[in-house]
Amino acid sequence: MTPQHSSAPHTALATATRHRDWWRDAVIYQVYPRSFADSNGDGMGDLEGVRSRLPYLRDLGVDAVWLSPFYSSPQADAGYDVADYRAVDPMFGTLLDADALIRDAHGHGLRIIVDLVPNHSSDQHEWFKRALADGPGSPLRDRYHFRSGKGENGELPPNDWESIFGGPAWTRVTEPDGTPGEWYLHLFAPEQPDFNWEHPAVGDEFRSILRFWLDMGVDGFRIDVAHGLVKAEGLPDLGSHDQLKLLGNDVMPFFDQDGVHAIYRQWRTILDEYAGERIFVAEAWTPTVERTANYVRPDELHQAFNFQYLSTAWDAGELRSVIDATLTAMRPVGAPATWVLSNHDVTRHATRFANPPGLGTQIRTAGDRALGLGRARAASLLMLALPGSAYVYQGEELGLPDVVDLPDEVRQDPAYFRGEGQDGFRDGCRVPIPWTRTGSAYGFGGGGSWLPQPEGWGELSVEAQTGVAGSTLELYRAALSLRRSERDLGAGESLEWLRAPEGVLAFRRGGFVCVANTTAESVTVPAYGPVLLASGEFGEADGETKIPGDTTVWFGTPAV
Ligand code: NOJ
Repeated sequence: MTPQHSSAPHTALATATRHRDWWRDAVIYQVYPRSFADSNGDGMGDLEGVRSRLPYLRDLGVDAVWLSPFYSSPQADAGYDVADYRAVDPMFGTLLDADALIRDAHGHGLRIIVDLVPNHSSDQHEWFKRALADGPGSPLRDRYHFRSGKGENGELPPNDWESIFGGPAWTRVTEPDGTPGEWYLHLFAPEQPDFNWEHPAVGDEFRSILRFWLDMGVDGFRIDVAHGLVKAEGLPDLGSHDQLKLLGNDVMPFFDQDGVHAIYRQWRTILDEYAGERIFVAEAWTPTVERTANYVRPDELHQAFNFQYLSTAWDAGELRSVIDATLTAMRPVGAPATWVLSNHDVTRHATRFANPPGLGTQIRTAGDRALGLGRARAASLLMLALPGSAYVYQGEELGLPDVVDLPDEVRQDPAYFRGEGQDGFRDGCRVPIPWTRTGSAYGFGGGGSWLPQPEGWGELSVEAQTGVAGSTLELYRAALSLRRSERDLGAGESLEWLRAPEGVLAFRRGGFVCVANTTAESVTVPAYGPVLLASGEFGEADGETKIPGDTTVWFGTPAV
């Protein structure tokens, strides 16, 4: 038997844990540390701020917290450019703060998942700085993708790949002697050079980083750009100038290469040495849910985000087909489905659903806010009724919309400053959370907030919604509590579709029926049982339930 590391006190967590395989139906709450809570009044959220709000997360009823990166970083991409994987950036605190946060979370029965960024480092990482300083031929350049340029004088990039943030995926360096020299690959910003995973030192380093955080007691890792680590041999041209259209629809020479899976099989053996059911979740953008399933085979990762679900419009037919495709794809590999509506990279679903479908996941217009909020509440209740694990992005439990009118001068999304790539409107979903109705930064912290909060933000605050019947916060609290109760809503891997009017989804799971009306009109459905929860008003008469447009209702029924 492999010896198991135990590390960090898990007693409180173990007592609070409801069952084995906790992650199969867990609700995992994403904290974006910059924007959650600021303990020292510098306008930037920090780890101590997160720690102070753990009781809120415990009472909300989530199982785990995923923290976006808080490591030492020049913040060229809000921390997804890591300079030192084993240090906390002073803007977020210290390693001691991280330790205190992990311990306290466990004391509250909450698990902690940290973000691992293995596709690229910061250009301020020690390896990259030395690779540049040592000049061409430096062995440290082999840990990244350095190449000579094409053209007579090497003035053209080595291939035709484009950065996800826009512009070429290559930047030419100035060599120590002052001449224009080699190029290096960066699938994201120029400040984020891609590692060369063919080099053994890269794998060794990341296995050691995994152990560092596992020894600190974390319960898992979200793997950033999990589909990007391995590039096709020889870095072949894509041969298309429409890379953005291909992304997510095709296997690319730099994304979703089969070679990534060997890395995850190795990582899994490390994780399994540690006690306490720790997990990996992949950020893997793949063309199909079937290819996503490859990442969660039994000897690889535990979960993968369901971006197909996140990108689906509020439309019964489209939702049903992505739900079916997800459950069908996950079943053979034995992994739980995951469901997600919002995160720090996309326009919040309250704003997506306020706008007409087809605008993508980064939107600049507020749309019809009341409509968006109604649909978002209905969509959240639908998501929380599905079998598997659900991800909740901070603030969605308050029904927050995106802030669409941020002045250009406060924007920080690197994609905003480069043409042609992603739209670059990710700051809109990153505006700090309102905790109180009034006061400095609406309770976010004592010294303003790094992105301006809009007027009226306080009316959406935790304080304004707590204890208010029908508020979005109380809706989430009730839904999460029911999910946890004897109904075990997240458990299992299937559902039974029930006959329903056009534009309406209805399904049964054990002693529970969920009906989601995605149309604008009221519909009448059989009263399947007592209403447990509803995202809006509903009517009951003569054995029937009237469900208004854009509303979801949960019924308790005798099990069949
Ligand atoms: C995905 C992260 O979620 C996003 O915020 C980041 O910009 C890219 N990966 C690059 O690390």
